[in-house]
Order: sequence, then C-alpha cells, then structure tokens
Amino acid sequence: MKIAFIGYGNVGAPLADHLQRAGHQVSLAANDPNSESVKKALARNPDLQIVEPKVAVGDAEVVFLATPFQINETALKGVADEIKGKILVDCTNPIGPKLSHGLNSVQSGSEMIQALVPDTRVVKAFSIYGFENFENSSYPGFNVKPGMMYCGDDAAAKKFVGGLIEQLGWEPLDVGGLAQALHLEHMTLLWVRMVRVSKHSPHTVWAMLTR
Ligand SMILES: NC(=O)c1ccc[n+]([C@@H]2O[C@H](COP(=O)([O-])OP(=O)(O)OC[C@H]3O[C@@H](n4cnc5c(N)ncnc54)[C@H](OP(=O)(O)O)[C@@H]3O)[C@@H](O)[C@H]2O)c1
Repeated sequence: MKIAFIGYGNVGAPLADHLQRAGHQVSLAANDPNSESVKKALARNPDLQIVEPKVAVGDAEVVFLATPFQINETALKGVADEIKGKILVDCTNPIGPKLSHGLNSVQSGSEMIQALVPDTRVVKAFSIYGFENFENSSYPGFNVKPGMMYCGDDAAAKKFVGGLIEQLGWEPLDVGGLAQALHLEHMTLLWVRMVRVSKHSPHTVWAMLTR
C-alpha cells in the first residue's frame, strides 16, 4: 500500500517507520527535503521516500496527517486536488489554552478537517496517546493488547485503517462515526493531563475488557 505522511515529527516519523517496515511504500510529503524533521525521520529509517507534497499525496492511497493542528488548513490546501478520494488518517489534536479543547468542545478537529477536504474519507486514529507509544506499542506481559480507538464515517476506510492499526500491534477499537472524534480528542486531553501534568508514566494506554 502507498502511504504518504503530511507531518513526520514526534508522531508521524515513528508511524511512518513502522508502516514502512511492515511492508508499505511510505513517503514523507516534504516541503523542505533538508528540514530537521526529514533528517530525523531518515536517521530512523533511510528507506522512507522524500517526495514533494503534491506528488506524494497524489501517488498515495492513504494519507496520514500528523501536523500541528493550526497548520492543517494550509497543509491540506496545498494538496487539495491530489487528496480527493483518499483515506485521510487524522492523528492531530486541537489543543487550547491550559490543555483545553482547541475548538471549545463545540466541533471536533476531525470534523473540521472533513469540512476542509470534503472529498476525502477522514478516519481519526493514532491520536489518543503520546508519541512514546507510537514509537513502541509493545506491552509484554499483559493478556490484552493496547487499544487504539478510531472513528470515521466511511466503513471501508475505517476497515482499512483498522488493519493498519492491527499491523502496528494495537487492538483496533472502532468507536463509531466521525462525530465520536470529539470524545477521542477529550480522551487525548485526559491522557495528556494525566501524563504530562500529573506524571503518570507515558507508557500508559487503555485496553478494552468486554464480557
Ligand atoms: N506529540 C505527541 O505526543 C502527540 C500525540 C498524539 C497526537 N499528537 C498530535 O499530532 C500532531 C503532530 O504532533 P507532533 O508532536 O508530531 O509535532 P512535531 O513533532 O512538531 O511535528 C510536526 C510535523 O509537521 C510538519 N509541518 C509543520 N508545518 C508544516 C506545514 N506548513 N506543512 C506541512 N508540514 C508541516 C513538520 O515538518 P517540518 O519540521 O519539516 O516543518 C513536522 O514534520 C499534532 O496535531 C498533535 O496534537 C501529538
């Protein structure tokens, strides 16, 4: 599968690395092929391809968005034609002052993105934990896998992203339509406050027990 990354920093680079090693053809949509984040991503995995954004996105079947939330609009506008019809995996989170929801909990970031690029199939995933867990999703010694909650309105896109989640070692937990993204974004804030403020271990994830 051809996968392009818009944003390949703390979150994007380890996901791109693992997906390439899992057998996908992964490109970084790079405005500046000499940027620090390109260099760091290549140091992690020299087999990642560095490609001009329009070409990377145009070629890809799936596009990951892992940029600071406030630049999403600019980044997506630059590839507005190329991204049409693609699965767009939204890893971003709108964060406001004092770790509040960046859109005042009125609309989710993912729904805002869907409105910006209406012809894409947005799936929110790989967003609810800190990057440490994207670097290493292994939780040995437990009899459940760490859960990755994800949501979206397009069933086929979600099924596909669920497969990627599983490939990267997570239990895919489909929590419903894209309207659920608001709740996932609040879960992120919960995790961030617990870990970055209250100093729980960053190697903390959720798992689902059902009976
Ligand atoms: N950090 C976490 O633990 C974490 C966890 C879950 C979700 N998130 C969310 O994931 C997103 C990324 O966070 P991060 O920590 O990975 O950020 P980061 O390390 O700062 O990386 C941001 C990436 O975005 C790229 N970028 C910046 N401006 C751009 C532009 N105008 N056009 C295209 N690309 C641009 C940067 O590339 P250049 O350096 O080349 O400009 C870099 O590759 C955020 O929305 C965040 O809320 C973060």
